[in-house]
Amino acid sequence: MKHLLNPLDLSVDEIYELIYLAQEIIKDPKKYSKVCEGKKLATLFYEPSTRTRLSFEAAMLNLGGSVLGFHSADSSSATKGESVADTIRVVSGYADIAAMRHPKEGAALVAANSCNIPIINAGDGGHLHPSQTLTDLLTILRNKGRLKNFRIGFCGDLKFGRTVHSLILALLRYEGIEFVLISPEELKLPSYNKNAMDEAGAKWIETASLEYALPDLDVLYMTRVQKERFFNEEDYVRLKDTYILDEQKLESAKDDLVIMHPLPRVNEISVEVDNDPRAKYFDQVKNGRYVRMALILMLLGIEGGLR
Ligand code: CP
Repeated sequence: MKHLLNPLDLSVDEIYELIYLAQEIIKDPKKYSKVCEGKKLATLFYEPSTRTRLSFEAAMLNLGGSVLGFHSADSSSATKGESVADTIRVVSGYADIAAMRHPKEGAALVAANSCNIPIINAGDGGHLHPSQTLTDLLTILRNKGRLKNFRIGFCGDLKFGRTVHSLILALLRYEGIEFVLISPEELKLPSYNKNAMDEAGAKWIETASLEYALPDLDVLYMTRVQKERFFNEEDYVRLKDTYILDEQKLESAKDDLVIMHPLPRVNEISVEVDNDPRAKYFDQVKNGRYVRMALILMLLGIEGGLR
């Protein structure tokens, strides 16, 4: 039984295999349109989502399977006090695989320990978001042609940003990657992530200035300051517009910079940047569906994605 709770649950070879399969699916999606006939995916979302939930559902439907689930805690028996462990035990009687998003760190692990179907962590609080990481790796590979030897800047909410924590963990296994951590003091990357970078011998620097970091970056990973993670509205309002990427700032950036964002975006990337050829965040969204198709096939043990 394999789950995806943390990007490190997949070996580097398995990630290459999965990314290869996602690219095969992109080339010929019809070939895979029936491989999951009779299989069901449950999407258990205790927190809002547009991309992750809908791309998982689209992925399973595109593989010929079907989907069931709930899109908020309010529409599930969590409101009556049911535990995650009990809910997943029940759902595992209805579905072959489940993707779960929850506001609490470790919720997906609790689910995985309580059932006999593969569990995908679709985001657990400010901790990890491994299927987004796979999407991000595919996007970097398709745009840079490699998963090594580049300088990546992470900008915005590095404290609560689960997509950031996940991608950094995954990238530490590839050689020659330098990390530039761009955030205000209050939203710096947690020390456990920095310790992981030190243990891996990675080069990293911290700065509060996007303008300072931008000219030397190969990849820029922008993030939203997440209102839902703040205890205090005042702090959120003070920090939310710290970084706004616009065309003027991008004048100093490399011509082959890859601009990524897990989305949703609020103000941190001006809409004018959407037309810049370096903006890849909507391609990143498209990659998410294909990578999740490959992930479902891998976790269901459908050899080579075909049966
Ligand atoms: N990137 C991402 O997790 O988006 P959603 O919150 O819309 O799923």
